[in-house]
Amino acid sequence: MGKRLIYFITIFISITLAACSEGKVYKIGVSQCSQDDWRSKMNDEINREIMLHEDAVVEIRSADDSNAKQIADIRYFADNGFDIIIVSPNEAEALTPAIKDVYDRGIPVIIFDRNIIGDTYTAHIGVDDMGIGRQAAHYALHIATDGHPKVIEIFGLPGSTPAENRHEGFSEELTANGGKIIASEPGNWNKEDAIPVVDSLLRIYPEVNLIYAHNDRMAIGASEVAHSLRRDDIKIIGIDAAPEIGIRAVADSVIDATFLYPTEGHRLIQTALAILKGEPYSRNVQIPASSAVDLSNADILLLQDEGLKEETRKMKVLKEKIDDYWAQHSSQTFLFYASIAIIVLLFGVIFLVLRAFWQHHRHQAALMSQNKLLEEQRDMQKSLNEKLQEATQSKLMFFTNVSHDLRTPLTLIAEPVAQLNGASNLTAQQQSLVTIADKNVKILRRLINQILDFRKYENGKLDLHLSEIDFGRTIAEWMEAFYPIARKRDIKLSLDHPDGDKPVITALDTEKIERVFFNLISNAFKYTPDNGTISVSYRVIGDNLTIKVSDTGEGISERDLGNIFDRFYQVDRVHPKGSGIGLSLAKAFVELHGGTISVESTLNKGSVFTVVLPMRHISGNVTASLERNITDKEVSAELSTPESEIRFDAEKPLLLVIDDNKDILYLINTLLQDTYNIITAPNGREGVRLAVKYIPDLIICDVMMPVMDGLECCRRIKEEVSTSHIPVLMLTACSMDEQRVQGYDNGADGYLAKPFNADVLRSQCASLISNRKRIKELWNSRDTAVGQTTQQPHPSPRPLPVSDIDNDFYRRFLDILKADMGNSDLNVDKIASLMGLERSQFYRKIKALTNYSPVELIRRLRLKQGHNLLLTTEKTVSEIAYETGFSTPAYFTKCYRDAYGETPIEARNRLGR
Ligand code: FRU
Repeated sequence: MGKRLIYFITIFISITLAACSEGKVYKIGVSQCSQDDWRSKMNDEINREIMLHEDAVVEIRSADDSNAKQIADIRYFADNGFDIIIVSPNEAEALTPAIKDVYDRGIPVIIFDRNIIGDTYTAHIGVDDMGIGRQAAHYALHIATDGHPKVIEIFGLPGSTPAENRHEGFSEELTANGGKIIASEPGNWNKEDAIPVVDSLLRIYPEVNLIYAHNDRMAIGASEVAHSLRRDDIKIIGIDAAPEIGIRAVADSVIDATFLYPTEGHRLIQTALAILKGEPYSRNVQIPASSAVDLSNADILLLQDEGLKEETRKMKVLKEKIDDYWAQHSSQTFLFYASIAIIVLLFGVIFLVLRAFWQHHRHQAALMSQNKLLEEQRDMQKSLNEKLQEATQSKLMFFTNVSHDLRTPLTLIAEPVAQLNGASNLTAQQQSLVTIADKNVKILRRLINQILDFRKYENGKLDLHLSEIDFGRTIAEWMEAFYPIARKRDIKLSLDHPDGDKPVITALDTEKIERVFFNLISNAFKYTPDNGTISVSYRVIGDNLTIKVSDTGEGISERDLGNIFDRFYQVDRVHPKGSGIGLSLAKAFVELHGGTISVESTLNKGSVFTVVLPMRHISGNVTASLERNITDKEVSAELSTPESEIRFDAEKPLLLVIDDNKDILYLINTLLQDTYNIITAPNGREGVRLAVKYIPDLIICDVMMPVMDGLECCRRIKEEVSTSHIPVLMLTACSMDEQRVQGYDNGADGYLAKPFNADVLRSQCASLISNRKRIKELWNSRDTAVGQTTQQPHPSPRPLPVSDIDNDFYRRFLDILKADMGNSDLNVDKIASLMGLERSQFYRKIKALTNYSPVELIRRLRLKQGHNLLLTTEKTVSEIAYETGFSTPAYFTKCYRDAYGETPIEARNRLGR
């Protein structure tokens, strides 16, 4: 809204200013060479004229008869943006260059009264000074008593053009009519200079009867001198006829006559404005001379001047009033436009305010409904949370109860298993099975204890039982249990303490911290590959004991790092290596001590777990030796897998077991090793590799595995020509129907849910293998059966319960053989390579499908074809032998007899052909 308001304000201020603004105002500069009565009159005229022009202002400067000052004045006008300069040059020669300069700069110049040399000006307004001189001479001749005036001429300023011209006109007219200029001396246009000149000349030339002065001021000076020398007889004439000085002097008989030198100030301004506005004007104006002012008309002229003055005064008053009105008008105009602007602005603002208000209202309503929605969502979330909490609580309660319930039977299992474990009369297999049971009973017991402890912690019922210990010695004892497994797996396990053997005495709940330590270090073992490094260190920093467990294991992703201490959070959900409670319980135990636990980790580099515990002391002695809660057995139960012996027996079928759990592998191995040769793979990818390599008779495969899961593994086995016939038994903890369907969709032949019963496993395996055998028999009866009599109709091929891949495989094999059956060099190697298989794969595949070796199968198929030809064609035995790929008819006869119990000739004779 702010932006729009500013926009409106700007527009209306511009409109208002535009409405009130005036057009261009011209600046006119007037440079007078002198300051005197004549020029005062002219300046009055200039000012009067300017009053009539609203579009012009004037500034008048006087040079006080100084060339230098006048040059400075002209430059001032030129440099200060004056549009036109009007100059009355003091001396022509001295002022010409300065005037030319401004004229050349493009500033219009009007020369008036006195002139310059040349014509570097825009206009010149002058007076006919020669004419005035002539008029003066004429008057002198007229008033001279003897008609022959003897004249002293008081010259103006030498070098100023009016003086030169007034002299020229006067002397020409005078001398031409019998008059004479006895002397001519400069009075420099002023009285003070003129007086001494007149005084000395009158003394020198007593015959003089007329004084001709170039202006009235010098004439009045001459009159005073003549009067003082008692020469009142001398006639005195001047020029200018300015009312206050010249005409008054005539009226008072101080001088005899004066000649009007027109001022024409108004004409200057009019010409200047015509030039500036591009209107027509005359470049050179010469105002004509007029007749003399003497006693006969001086009074009238004075009266006229008075009248003029009065009119001027009235005009001034009028002008002031007009100015006042104009000012009022201007301010009213401004007010008018400003009011309009303000009103429009006000409407604009009101509109914007109303719109903003409306928008705000709408926004508010939207917000309110959004808020309401949010509140509803929040309430819903809250009630969902509460329900979730309740559900979690009851789930936890359930877990706790179940854990309690499990503890008793577990103890009852644990004891007999422990006793069995110690028994000496067990077979190796029984011993292995008992070891697995014992190990898993311990794991179960630890898990149940963890759940119960965690519940206690959550309910605030977990107590600290502190005892003062030497932590260095204690942790060294804890570490002992882990060295055997580290050695077995070539893991470098070290315990570092920068302060050497110096005891670290502190009070801890040792049982709990031992569990924390056990959890951290067994995690390190679980995630660190063989040949890796696990380092444990502890150090006292300030009042804290810092324990670090670092490993070179697979590390934890950034996503998991933040949740790793959360209850039931499992880093690897597909392949969990724990229940997810261990670390949260470790955190609980550490926090119970007022400490912290944290982790830093880089994927594929390793992790560092740091536990910081505040050091504290309780009264009492340092406990010398503590009962260890975590036994070597518990460590090995958690971390090691019993080795199984793998023995191959040529008579037994080959079984491939694919499972990431070493215990399961070990268990199956123990259960089935009597019946099968067993090979194992820890994940799907390795499983596929081994299946292709060994073409086992049966595959048992877990579903959830790292690297490649069981479903993918099964699918690949079933898609691969060399392995597609192998039955696959999926073995998994997922027992839901949907997952079974997924398994079957991927080609599984059987499904067995964990935990499984050993007998069911055995019978499933046996059934799959025997199914396979039956299929082989079907193959045999299909294309390869020999020894049947041809009287029976050839059995029509019936669909076999085998995959399309196997059918295709066998069809391709038959096609290759049939196409080139006459070729006795078509051997197993050639057919295998045409089928895109290695010889051994081809061998195992054919054997698995038909129970015949490829050589045997090819021979049987050749014989069968020979048999057919014998019975259905007239071809000779040797022709048939070659046609079916036997190298000699004798070899064909031998093989035929072996297969059918009679020679080909006998067979033909028997049939009467
Ligand atoms: C005034 C004046 C007049 C004279 C004129 C000539 O400064 O001396 O008296 O007529 O200049 O330029």
